[in-house]
Amino acid sequence: MSFKILISDPLSEEGIYPLRQANNVNIVMDTSLSAEQLEERIHEFDALLVRSQTQVTRSLISKATNLKIIGRAGVGVDNIDLDAATEHGIIVVNAPNGNTNSAAEHTMAMLMALSRNIPQAYHALKNQKWDRKKYVGVELKNKTLGIVGLGRIGVEVATRAKGQRMNVIAFDPFLTEEKAEKLGIGYGTFEEVIKQADFITVHTPLLKETRHMINAQAFSLMKDGVQIINCARGGIIDEDALYDAILSGKVAGAALDVFEQEPFMDHKLLELPEVVATPHLGASTVEAQESVAIDVSHDVISFLNGDMVKNP
Ligand code: NAD
Ligand code: MLT
Repeated sequence: MSFKILISDPLSEEGIYPLRQANNVNIVMDTSLSAEQLEERIHEFDALLVRSQTQVTRSLISKATNLKIIGRAGVGVDNIDLDAATEHGIIVVNAPNGNTNSAAEHTMAMLMALSRNIPQAYHALKNQKWDRKKYVGVELKNKTLGIVGLGRIGVEVATRAKGQRMNVIAFDPFLTEEKAEKLGIGYGTFEEVIKQADFITVHTPLLKETRHMINAQAFSLMKDGVQIINCARGGIIDEDALYDAILSGKVAGAALDVFEQEPFMDHKLLELPEVVATPHLGASTVEAQESVAIDVSHDVISFLNGDMVKNP
């Protein structure tokens, strides 16, 4: 039996080697399809491989009459309508481990860029401004990092922040005293953590419970001059509330890799000098992209050939 696979977001060529090796698949890689074009063609395919750009909506799924599996080369499956996929008997697999390290490293890069005003100073210098006074930063040593969501990436960030000699405290509904002790970090309720932190980084999935969990009420509890990082998902932080909190001086800086609407280019937050931003680059390393594509390719091939999958 042969299968037709559509790859609709850019995936690492090395990573899809397992698919290229299989002798019963025909791969179509087309990363330029509009939502309408995708809906027109989706019925041709047995499997769909995506990153975060392709929106796998209920409407798309309803037209995917031959689709058996959707592979998400990454962690977050919030661009896939899971209920619709389940209703249509389509299995969804992701690659939860392959980009953990890259996302943690990006978070640390954002934390350091923020604390030392590196992007702002670089931008000024490129514009012929040598301004040493304006870009005085703060040390990370002895500052408190509050981590909201201590899963795979949160743990890696905690370990690295301790290497910077920060005090780390975390909130996660599944965090136990034993785990916190083992990591050498503190823990508390959401309110306790955000009240004590000098820097706050969020590492939860985007769920009903986490949407706008960092909102005006949460900002009001934080220290004056707190700095915020989001390398997890747009929508965990309420962007309008963040904008107001920066204007009021409550929040001294924010580093954002992810946004409520992506692509994110024409937004009032980007006009603020206190905001450091990257275009969803947390997992964009050669290593992570290869790793997630390999994991998801293996699962898709296994499933199509009637074998078990690792990450349903
Ligand atoms: P994970 O599932 O390992 O960890 C998520 C943690 O959040 C879990 O420990 C869970 O218990 C916790 N959590 C759930 N609800 C919570 C709540 N209400 N309050 C506090 N904690 C809560 O996931 P991960 O691999 O660590 O990924 C974390 C996030 O990073 C996800 O949103 C993922 O999509 C995102 N991500 C982004 C990039 C990027 O490119 N920027 C790359 C990889 C992952
Ligand atoms: C993820 O959830 O894995 C990230 O958003 C990375 C990505 O796919 O770009």
